[in-house]
Amino acid sequence: MRRFYRLLIVAVIVPLTSLLVVSCKDEKPLRIGVSQCSDDDWRSKMNEEVMLEAMLHDNVEVEIRSADDNNEKQIADIRYFADNGFDIIIVAPNEAQAITPVITEVYERGIPVIIFDRNVNNDSYTARIGTDNREIGRSAGRYALHLFSGLSRPIKVLEIYGLAGSSPAVGRRVGFDEVVTAGGGEIAGTGYGNWNLSDAERVTDSLLTLHPDVDLIYAHNDRMAIGAAGVAHRRGLDNIKIIGIDAAPNIGMRAVADSVIDATFLYPTEGHLLVNTALDILQGRPYSKETTMPASSAVDLSNVDILMRQNQTLDNEVSKMKALKKRVDDFWSKHSAQTSLFYASIVILLLVLFSLFMVLRAFWQRKRHQLVLMDHNRRLEEQSREQKRLADSRAELNDRLQEAIQSKLAFYTNVSHDLRTPLTLIAEPIAQLAKSDNLTSRQRDLLALAGKNTRILARLINQILDFRKFENDKLRLNLTEVDLTGVLAEWTDSFREVARRRDIRLTLHTADTEHIQLALDAEKMERVFFNLVANAIKYTPDNGSIDISYSCDGETLTLVVADTGIGIPAAELGNIFDQFFMVDKVRPQGSGIGLSLVKAFVEMHKGSITVDSQEGKGSVFTVRIPVTHISERSEVPESLISEQDINIELAGVGESDAVGCVGAAAPPPPPAA
Ligand code: FRU
Repeated sequence: MRRFYRLLIVAVIVPLTSLLVVSCKDEKPLRIGVSQCSDDDWRSKMNEEVMLEAMLHDNVEVEIRSADDNNEKQIADIRYFADNGFDIIIVAPNEAQAITPVITEVYERGIPVIIFDRNVNNDSYTARIGTDNREIGRSAGRYALHLFSGLSRPIKVLEIYGLAGSSPAVGRRVGFDEVVTAGGGEIAGTGYGNWNLSDAERVTDSLLTLHPDVDLIYAHNDRMAIGAAGVAHRRGLDNIKIIGIDAAPNIGMRAVADSVIDATFLYPTEGHLLVNTALDILQGRPYSKETTMPASSAVDLSNVDILMRQNQTLDNEVSKMKALKKRVDDFWSKHSAQTSLFYASIVILLLVLFSLFMVLRAFWQRKRHQLVLMDHNRRLEEQSREQKRLADSRAELNDRLQEAIQSKLAFYTNVSHDLRTPLTLIAEPIAQLAKSDNLTSRQRDLLALAGKNTRILARLINQILDFRKFENDKLRLNLTEVDLTGVLAEWTDSFREVARRRDIRLTLHTADTEHIQLALDAEKMERVFFNLVANAIKYTPDNGSIDISYSCDGETLTLVVADTGIGIPAAELGNIFDQFFMVDKVRPQGSGIGLSLVKAFVEMHKGSITVDSQEGKGSVFTVRIPVTHISERSEVPESLISEQDINIELAGVGESDAVGCVGAAAPPPPPAA
């Protein structure tokens, strides 16, 4: 099952999530940094072209910075692009001398550099795109000569120079001077206008003060030309022709159209070419290291209208393109949002289905579990009902058994009562007959046999009657202060002859304390002793041993009878003191009443009896009786169980015609019922 979940995750969720992530994530864009040396109309046009071209390419980002004619600022701008991970830098260097080192530096750092418009002093750049400024200068020179072709004297010109360190200014000057000088013209004066209007006004003013008779002012760009025109006009020198360079629509062309200046020369911006070259370099396509665009002819009143209209049309088309591009972008952003939403929905749907599946699975599992539990509970209840039923029937059986035992005992008691008197009447004549002198030995033997069996019968009857009395709480303790050491020696001696016949080693281990005295019912204790030792002899094979020991710690008398007999099975040990329990149920050796009676007699002394046994090794019976004393002393009581009784009791034990029973012996004189 775990494998299934793993598969589900690997096969569905992971790919979909990845798809979602991928669909949400754009490719890394190509970043182009454009460092403009200045900010003017011509450059604004170029910047617009750059942005328009970039817009047409996917994943191209352009950032344009203007140095505002300041070398330090331009150096900082170039470093900014280099340090911020731009992929390529396009630079129009303000002044070659100042900017060349930083361009060399970034180029050598491995960042591609495109130089445009203005030059650097070495060839540490990737590509250069420029215009032939010398040729522009020549065109301007030719135009000037043409304007004054009807003049009888050489033309006189003032030249407003761009920036001293700017390469286009150098070319524009050389080309113009070359042509004008060759045409007989004269450059009457030159001043630095630094590409801007105010400086141009300042120098024009000074130059016109010196040379008010000039025919033409040639400025290296339209801004300076407009400045110069203003100064000439203010001086009332409206006959001076003024020409500039750039032909940017909103300044140069407008100035021509408005007759502020007389002509201008198109200085191509080519922003799209810059972006395409940059992409060729970045995307590994072929490109030219040097691109020089051709110079154009003059823009003057003869063509400015059409050029401006074309320009306007172009602007309109560009605006439409921009609007179209915006719509396409909007569409794509909507589309990509919808695509992301679509994939997200699929993933969410799958997750929901998966969760639903898990919930249902958990629900079914719980239900199945509940069913199993209910079934288990039902079975447990059935079992407990069955157990209760069994316990009830066992209790009932037990009750019935007890009833049966009680009625059996009652029956035996009644029968015993009935039998005792006739038995005494039989025993007495037999005893008297046995005393006669004139008996043959055969008669004597028969009388002895009859006497022996009447004694056995009397013992059994007495045991039943005793047990009954104990049960009915009518059996009384007859306590006297007994010298146990003495009586134990005497009781043990009674068994010696039987033990000897069976080669059983019978040992009485005398206690450390010489004479142990305590209050006992001597008769009952004798019967306890008799039963335990008789049992030991019955269940101990020939050549075994029986050890009797006793001790007294002042509080408890402990009497131990240990044998090396057949032992008692562990399962039976707990029952052997129960009423009429017989260990050997197959070949019972008696009524089973003996040990029950022993326990009863011990408990009457507030004592206890325990047994420890191992099958095949032997048994150990331990009797513990609390030591008490009584003032009434008895003489060493006369033993009530004679050796003759023992011989009768144990006659034939160990032989096939055994007569004994478990704990079977009892003294012959019947106690009063
Ligand atoms: C614009 C400008 C133009 C000129 C060019 C020369 O900044 O001054 O007017 O043609 O630079 O680099």
